[in-house]
Amino acid sequence: IRVAILISGRGSNMQVLAETIAAEKLPVDLCSVLSNRADAAGLDWARARGLPAEVLSHRGFDSREAFDAALRERLDALAPDYILLAGFMRVLGADLVRHFDGRIVNIHPSLLPAFPGLHTHAQALAQGVQWHGCTVHFVTPVLDHGPIIAQGAIPVLADDTPDTLAARLLPVEHQIYAQVLRWLAQGRVRLLADGRVEVAQAP
Ligand code: GRF
Repeated sequence: IRVAILISGRGSNMQVLAETIAAEKLPVDLCSVLSNRADAAGLDWARARGLPAEVLSHRGFDSREAFDAALRERLDALAPDYILLAGFMRVLGADLVRHFDGRIVNIHPSLLPAFPGLHTHAQALAQGVQWHGCTVHFVTPVLDHGPIIAQGAIPVLADDTPDTLAARLLPVEHQIYAQVLRWLAQGRVRLLADGRVEVAQAP
């Protein structure tokens, strides 16, 4: 399968995905690591490994629609089977999402449908939940709301802060996103008509 990974910053999820492809020789062609920010640290990491890294800055466009149109054109040229959002901090418009229906995947640092949006670790602490986590899901036009492919959970500890929670959750994010990539590479992920996701047994 062909895969593009979209980032905006550090890119640790992207790094784990790229390393998983290489280490496990997955049948995945990572055709682009695309950032909307030229200063994303993940770009340097990708370039240093000879991965196809590119920038499409949202700054050059007057509207989200114009940026989305340019992103759509670039992604169409790349023709990925899946577009993996990994800390990509731009909200994608409904037209773009529908164009790539069922092919855009995101990782979100909460147990969706709880805590969509930003500052998820602070939201979890404020709510007093005892379990926190992360979700890999298909992207739909509703922000942080699509069919769930995988989740990972961690207990919330009495002295947790947003930073400690984020730090403990990050390795779980890496683990579940790598697992979803394996499933996608093996063709095992199917979106059901009722909006749920089925992961087929390993062959
Ligand atoms: C992750 O916590 C991801 O879930 C969130 O942004 C963070 C990105 O981290 N949406 P990285 O860029 O993958 O290191």
